[in-house]
Amino acid sequence: MINPSRATYDILQGTLNGKDNEVTKVQRTISNTLRMYANTEGIDQDVLDQINYRVEVFKVDENEGGLQFGTSYLYPGTINGEYFMTKGHYHAIANRTEFYLCLKGEGLLLLMDRDRHWWTEEVEPNSLHYIQGNVAHRLINTSSEILTVLACWNSDAGHDYASIEEEGFSVRYFKIDGEPTPVEQG
Ligand SMILES: [Fe+2]
Repeated sequence: MINPSRATYDILQGTLNGKDNEVTKVQRTISNTLRMYANTEGIDQDVLDQINYRVEVFKVDENEGGLQFGTSYLYPGTINGEYFMTKGHYHAIANRTEFYLCLKGEGLLLLMDRDRHWWTEEVEPNSLHYIQGNVAHRLINTSSEILTVLACWNSDAGHDYASIEEEGFSVRYFKIDGEPTPVEQG
């Protein structure tokens, strides 16, 4: 049976509104995500309480062939020099793909294949990114404003966060002499 559905997305305000059972909003503070950073010594409570990122997702159809739409708001900052970033993931159904479209801010889209080869794409307003299957993806905010990125992906893709939690990406980005600098992790 078809379930008619409609939501609104206010691009200027960055707000997704729709039916409660179709719109999900999640917020993670630095204390929620601290484990993914390289060096977490001496982080003040006010930094731990900062928002790392917010995600809003519009999901209507969970079936194979369905699509979902979402927005990530990645906040600016560093943890002992390492830029704020998203957790990053492969898709649980590994061949599923995704589009990212940047609305605001500046940063990097870090990509890594199953052989742990990594590369980045510059993310800036209007940049459009196609993420192929079997490629892990993470956003890194190298600017001083919120990085806002729209995404559209297969509803059944799922998230494999565990592989990244266990093995990490093969590179991290630090602010060194004011510039985004890759530090390879092996
Ligand atoms: Fe994804």
